Amino acid sequence: MIIAIDGPAGAGKSTIAKKVADSLGYIYIDTGAMYRAFTYELLTSSISLSDIEEITKVLEKTDIEFKNNEIFLNNLNVTNEIRSKNVTANVSVVSAIPQVREKLVYLQRKIASESNSILDGRDIGTVVFPDAELKIFLTASVKIRALRRYNELIAKDKNIDINEIEIEIEKRDKLDSSRETSPLIKATDAIEIDTSNLSIDEVVNTILKLAEEIC
Ligand code: C5P
Repeated sequence: MIIAIDGPAGAGKSTIAKKVADSLGYIYIDTGAMYRAFTYELLTSSISLSDIEEITKVLEKTDIEFKNNEIFLNNLNVTNEIRSKNVTANVSVVSAIPQVREKLVYLQRKIASESNSILDGRDIGTVVFPDAELKIFLTASVKIRALRRYNELIAKDKNIDINEIEIEIEKRDKLDSSRETSPLIKATDAIEIDTSNLSIDEVVNTILKLAEEIC
């Protein structure tokens, strides 16, 4: 059983997917974290993001795993590092490279083959698991998404600027939706939930009800 949750940046996908996974006893696969981890690897190795030959070589040696919802890049825990501004600013460029997507989609399918899974990302319902039993497309207005991200980050960084966050979210959505390979689009059979005026629990319960109906 596969539940696919797609949607733009900051729509609450990971918070909601984690809660649904806990309730159902499924494994949760944060595919955005995988693209972030590989981006982190390229940035820390000072590899040019346009050097596809070098990137392909690094990809061959890259392993990404999850343990207790923490992410490991070649056995190194990079759970905090992948949330840096630098990774966020570059991840959409890296995730548009077809060779990167091929390898990470392979890993996503492999991890999900081990158990009932809930995956969140941009192309889960369209490309990674087009036959997923349940597909959700989560949205919210860009203002609300920026505000939620701001509330999350302000605890750690007092210098955070909400306008900057909004610009970054819009830029990433534009790149993710306009790329040639696996762009962010709603699968025709996905159920869209606009979370702008809903609490986390309301969204989680809606998805749990939908999951119950198809079980
Ligand atoms: O989900 P999150 O915002 O952490 O994702 C970071 C980036 O990873 C996205 O902006 C997108 O460029 C990329 N991504 C992707 N396909 C996925 C998940 C994430 O291209 N399935």
